[in-house]
Amino acid sequence: MPHRSPEFARIEAATDEAIRRAAGRIRQGDLVAFPTETVYGLGADATRGQAVAAIYEAKGRPSFNPLIAHVDSIAMAETLVVFDPLSRRLAETFWPGPLTLVLPARPDCPVSSLATAGLDTLAVRMPAHKVALDLIRAAGVPIVAPSANTSGHVSPTSAAHVYGDLSRRVPLILDGGRTEVGLESTILQVRDDTPYLLRPGGLAREDIEAAAGVAVVRSEGDPSTAPVAPGMLASHYAPRARVRLDARRVEPNEALLAFGGASIRGATEAKRVFNLSPAGSLREAAANLFDMLRRADGDDVAGIAVAPIPTHGLGEAIRDRLTRAAAPR
Ligand code: TXA
Ligand code: MG
Repeated sequence: MPHRSPEFARIEAATDEAIRRAAGRIRQGDLVAFPTETVYGLGADATRGQAVAAIYEAKGRPSFNPLIAHVDSIAMAETLVVFDPLSRRLAETFWPGPLTLVLPARPDCPVSSLATAGLDTLAVRMPAHKVALDLIRAAGVPIVAPSANTSGHVSPTSAAHVYGDLSRRVPLILDGGRTEVGLESTILQVRDDTPYLLRPGGLAREDIEAAAGVAVVRSEGDPSTAPVAPGMLASHYAPRARVRLDARRVEPNEALLAFGGASIRGATEAKRVFNLSPAGSLREAAANLFDMLRRADGDDVAGIAVAPIPTHGLGEAIRDRLTRAAAPR
């Protein structure tokens, strides 16, 4: 087995030298946490079953939940999957960037079947982050990486978040500062020329529709008829405290996540207050979401009240994550 360090993780600034050493670790079958533009990932060589198994073990993740293979180019993606014309156009438009495409795996796809959870499709994405791209390039293999949090916890947007969750389970965390997008990638699967949205994320539906020239269909409900992302369990992004959406007032002992200038009754009585974006920018709110959810959370609060968030643009993904955080569990 790849070694699982009983020691605490090392956090290293992502210098060229540190990335080179991290790539060496990946090639040896170790885990490395690294930044992308969306959230931090917990990476392993996609082609090594033992290394992939170590990811599931470190996260405590149900093994049926497949992983995204991160590539440094469309050319590398083509060694793994088969593109249909629309998926190819979307990759050319939005890569590198926060778009994950679910595509049929090639018959000779070298990715471990543990990473695909036995599906005949593979999720691939090219991240828009220099550290991530340099790491993949230096390792010379696709890197599978789920978000670098323990299963069911909020995704990490800083090296400190990763450390808080996984310090005893990953030997090395490459520190690239705070992630810029702050939400996981948008996951899309094209079937019969129709793009299905499996997970709203850091690339807004409107941008995809403008490039695709057709409507994006939200894929929910019956998994036998609609494509699904197996990881989209209802209560996935779970802080400890109960989350209450579209709140117009703060109840006793609640923390408040505000948005824009809207006045929320009882705000001055809130246990803690964070404003996702005082200026009302959805982009800024996305970047702050997981960090502020973590900071609002705690044993001392009865719940987290969240001010109304618009439904358009990145609001769709922000509301999706908050709805999951609010789901009963
Ligand atoms: O932004 C991101 O996507 C981050 C960074 C690290 O790249 N990664 C991430 O990975 O969010 P993870 O493992 O937390 O979420 C991957 C999602 C899961 O919901 C999984 O079910 C879905 O992708 N998925 C993976 N392979 C799939 C496939 N072949 N078909 C459908 N869904 C798939
Ligand atoms: Mg995740």
